[in-house]
Amino acid sequence: MNRREALQGFLGFLAGSPLLRGQRDLPYSDHLVPGLEELVNVFEFEPICKMRLPRQNYDFIAGGVDNEWSLRHNRDAFDKIMFRPRMLVNASNLDLSLTLFGDKVSCPILVAPTAGHGLATPEGELATARAAASVETIQILSTNSSQPLEKVAAATSFPKWFQLYPGPDLEGTWERVQRAKDSGFKTIVLTVDAGYSSHRERLLRNRVRAQVPSGTSTTPQARRRRDESEPPSRPSVYGLGTTLVHRLDWSFFDDLKKRAGLPVLIKGILTAEDAELAVKHGADGIVVSNHGARYLEYAPATIEVLPEIVAVVNRKMPVLIDSGFRRGTDVLKALALGATAVCVGRPPLWGLGAFGEAGAKRVLELLRTELALAMGLCGKANLAQIDRTLLRMM
Ligand SMILES: Cc1cc2nc3c(=O)[nH]c(=O)nc-3n(C[C@H](O)[C@H](O)[C@H](O)COP(=O)(O)O)c2cc1C
Repeated sequence: MNRREALQGFLGFLAGSPLLRGQRDLPYSDHLVPGLEELVNVFEFEPICKMRLPRQNYDFIAGGVDNEWSLRHNRDAFDKIMFRPRMLVNASNLDLSLTLFGDKVSCPILVAPTAGHGLATPEGELATARAAASVETIQILSTNSSQPLEKVAAATSFPKWFQLYPGPDLEGTWERVQRAKDSGFKTIVLTVDAGYSSHRERLLRNRVRAQVPSGTSTTPQARRRRDESEPPSRPSVYGLGTTLVHRLDWSFFDDLKKRAGLPVLIKGILTAEDAELAVKHGADGIVVSNHGARYLEYAPATIEVLPEIVAVVNRKMPVLIDSGFRRGTDVLKALALGATAVCVGRPPLWGLGAFGEAGAKRVLELLRTELALAMGLCGKANLAQIDRTLLRMM
């Protein structure tokens, strides 16, 4: 056996090992890094991203909170659901497209709002905007974008949504909303699950904090407040910092809804009770999310709470979902449970960190292709044909 065969055998052994759950830790080293076209699923981008980015940047993207139980559980929850595929159905003309708030997208997979894409690639959110537009899907731009929102809006003509963190000052918050509206963003996505700073131990252990550049909050007041609220560069353990305006409650949402003049979605809903309130307060949509397991440890996996939420929303508004989606089959499971579309957070960042814009584009293409394949094999030619009867719960 020569060296190459021995290495191949070893890699094959590792790839089959239950220790590498979800293929998160494929053993790449510098001279073995595969090219973009060789990667077969989105997991394979993560180790390359990890290898290519400074440690603190990678940890900022990867981390959950505390023991990272919710982070693991977000993935494990998908394993409790199987399919009931139908045969001898003509699914030869696959159509994954859907229309959201008047805009047609090629598939029900959107780019979730994530902060500081400049940590992953120099052009940051501009690269993401082009990647999303090239697969004809929506990018939700984070308040904490590393590029000014106007520049991202102008990067492509494809529709984009703006994610809002309210605060720390109210005036800066309304100004952000106005800027997003003036720049042509089509909806506001209000994030409601991050009222306190979170305990991300990977970051606390690192001696250097990832410096998330921000291109969005540009009023002098907002900038001063932000600087004041920035923790020192060596993060302190258990800082109990509130990060948002003092009254992030339903009355804030009502004010936002009046001012925005755009559809407003609420991101971070995890219970039927809150979904019901969202309907009552006239939300235009919700995103069922545990923020990628980055705030409350022991938050449930979103796929587990989706059924109770879909039941109370009862098709009155779109129900989007994120947190842990890595496979086309994950997306199909959520659609079958009644989600309108799925957002992905870390995967496009892995793509950006590993191969820049081309990597983010490939990640989205892989997910779309996997979804198409799973739909075809289940006998579902379009999204309207997908329903709960497709699933078998363990
Ligand atoms: C690096 C990173 C930064 C994030 N920044 C934001 C943000 O600025 N605003 C927000 O609403 N959510 C933010 N999120 C949460 C995502 O919108 C989304 O809920 C989450 O990433 C979905 O989980 P996934 O990463 O497992 O796909 C962030 C997530 C990550 C991983």
